[in-house]
Amino acid sequence: MSKKREVYFITGGCGFIGSNFIHYLFELHGQNVFVINYDKLTYAGNPENLKSVEERENYRFYKGDICDQELVERIFNQYQPDYVINFAAESHVDRSIGNPEDFIRTDTLGVFYLLEASRKHQIKRFIQISTDEVYGSIQEGKFTEESGLFPSSPYSAGKAGGDRLAYSYYVTYNLPVIVTRASNNYGPYQYPEKLISLFVTNALDDKSLPIYGDGKNVRDWLFVKDHCSAVEFILRNGNDGEIYNVGGNCEKENLEITREILKATGKEESLIKWVKDRAGHDRRYALDDNKLVSLGWNREYTFEQGMAETVKWYTENRKWWEPLKSGEYLEYYKSHYGEEL
Ligand code: NAD
Ligand code: TYD
Repeated sequence: MSKKREVYFITGGCGFIGSNFIHYLFELHGQNVFVINYDKLTYAGNPENLKSVEERENYRFYKGDICDQELVERIFNQYQPDYVINFAAESHVDRSIGNPEDFIRTDTLGVFYLLEASRKHQIKRFIQISTDEVYGSIQEGKFTEESGLFPSSPYSAGKAGGDRLAYSYYVTYNLPVIVTRASNNYGPYQYPEKLISLFVTNALDDKSLPIYGDGKNVRDWLFVKDHCSAVEFILRNGNDGEIYNVGGNCEKENLEITREILKATGKEESLIKWVKDRAGHDRRYALDDNKLVSLGWNREYTFEQGMAETVKWYTENRKWWEPLKSGEYLEYYKSHYGEEL
């Protein structure tokens, strides 16, 4: 391996955003980068996502937990990464309500272990992939990077822990840390438990679309490829110690999204099923990402383009998501939604 190439140590690369990011990196840099994907392969990690890059000479996969300090250290010693990008997380709010412990362990403590390894090596940048959910809910206006943090689920509280811990390593140890806070992502390779991936796949199978509460909760939707370009842009152009919001500039109520999915898949509104609200359900997320936009980054996809690409991908890739809707998933689904899928 030639050390001249920049080495990326990417955690959670077998998940939704991480795998999109690795594909994006190879499209952008080809042979000029060396990518290490370090992933525990939880239920949400899927090596299939990276099948097409598996044989690349400039790609390595390691199965491992970010809390496994010894293994992380060994890989750092071997490859001396330039960049550490931490996508690894327990990421589903509903699961965090039933089982908070894993979230605190990975989303807070796991970040600590990565920061510790990073400060022993001459890394050029540590990007902590945080989330807009650390701000909590907002009735009017938008969150800026200066807004206070009022996370309200075990997921978002765990992420806030990792987010602030990363910042503390910048202040205390001069580690070149940047924190990104993105809004709700959607697109290919998203595990079919989140609103858009679940509803698109259920609609394709004529299964019901379970909407929580009154369906008026608002999220700001960001196409995953735009998120990937933002992370790489921030890695190259951002400033140490800074936070960057990454929004989709696309606020929508859940019911509106549901109707668009039904339309795009050619299904009837009778598939909608109103179910009990989520405990502590945040009403609205909205992000001001002018700080990033003024640095020169821009979204490429409109919501219409992103959704068209997403629905097309799930329609053409049944082989990817059908096997995921089995085993533990079906148990989770039944206990969570109170009915068989
Ligand atoms: P995901 O659940 O699809 O993937 C998470 C990945 O992390 C999986 O591959 C899993 O195996 C791996 N992982 C989990 N615990 C691990 C551990 N202890 N050690 C190593 N690997 C581990 O999540 P995602 O939607 O791709 O989210 C990626 C990151 O982006 C997360 O940090 C999440 O908080 C953040 N984020 C997500 C969204 C969104 O809408 N999905 C929005 C903003 C921020
Ligand atoms: P989700 O995709 O889980 O993302 P997050 O909660 O992290 O924002 O949920 C997005 C919105 O969709 C949120 O308001 C909860 C709602 N939702 C449903 O109404 N039904 C569902 O089955 C799911 C998974 C989510």
